[in-house]
Amino acid sequence: MSANDVLPDVRVFSSAPALSAAAAAWVADELADSVSARGRASLVLSGGSTPRTLYELLAGRFKDGIPWSGVHVFWSDERYVPHDHPLSNYRMAKEALLDHAGIPSAQVYPMPTHFPEPQAAARDYETTVNHYFAGTPPVFDVVLLGIGADGHTASVFPGSSAITSARVVMAVTAPAEPPSRLTLTLPVIASARRIGVLVTGASKAAALAVALGGRHSALPAAVLARTASTAVWWVDRDARPGLS
Ligand code: 6PG
Repeated sequence: MSANDVLPDVRVFSSAPALSAAAAAWVADELADSVSARGRASLVLSGGSTPRTLYELLAGRFKDGIPWSGVHVFWSDERYVPHDHPLSNYRMAKEALLDHAGIPSAQVYPMPTHFPEPQAAARDYETTVNHYFAGTPPVFDVVLLGIGADGHTASVFPGSSAITSARVVMAVTAPAEPPSRLTLTLPVIASARRIGVLVTGASKAAALAVALGGRHSALPAAVLARTASTAVWWVDRDARPGLS
């Protein structure tokens, strides 16, 4: 780890439910602080299965503490399938959060998956993000992420040009089903004011150890850990054995 690398903020919990509750409280506080400070908050939702419980808590126990009328919702990545497809990240967030939180629909920006070519969808979403930030470099207020066992995050996979791209959004081909994806690039993700990385389960332990290990791994999760000074790593004991 070089001198200017970030020392990760790692918070370990006894179980996934305990982790989700603590992370949801943190997200609620960060959203409220953003709206109070800047009049609005941009929340970037992760896909996958880990964040579902957190989303349900944001729409449930923590709902009244969040100024939803000031919250704008984006996605870190999306599988290139219809929004009602079982694998759609939008569908999962809609079921767990959006159908219950009362966020104005004009403030919800799904990644589009209706263009014939994913590259056109990526350009369209990049325009949406740049419009939200009025042409200034995107600085999202709260970005939620997971990591894969291979060390990917969002849909930035090992070896991807999205690790270093100057673009905001890219269409990529993932080594996972479905292969066609849209993703925010890692530099845009790393520039967020607050990042919450949710990691649970023994299957993630090896990738998390590399990511937090301080060595100069090229894995996207490791690059994020080194470069994102605002990341909080919410992990359970199965993902980080040996730490209490
Ligand atoms: C996706 C996610 C992806 C996810 C990890 C972890 O679209 O799949 O954005 O990066 O966060 O693969 O997925 P799980 O939470 O299902 O383990």
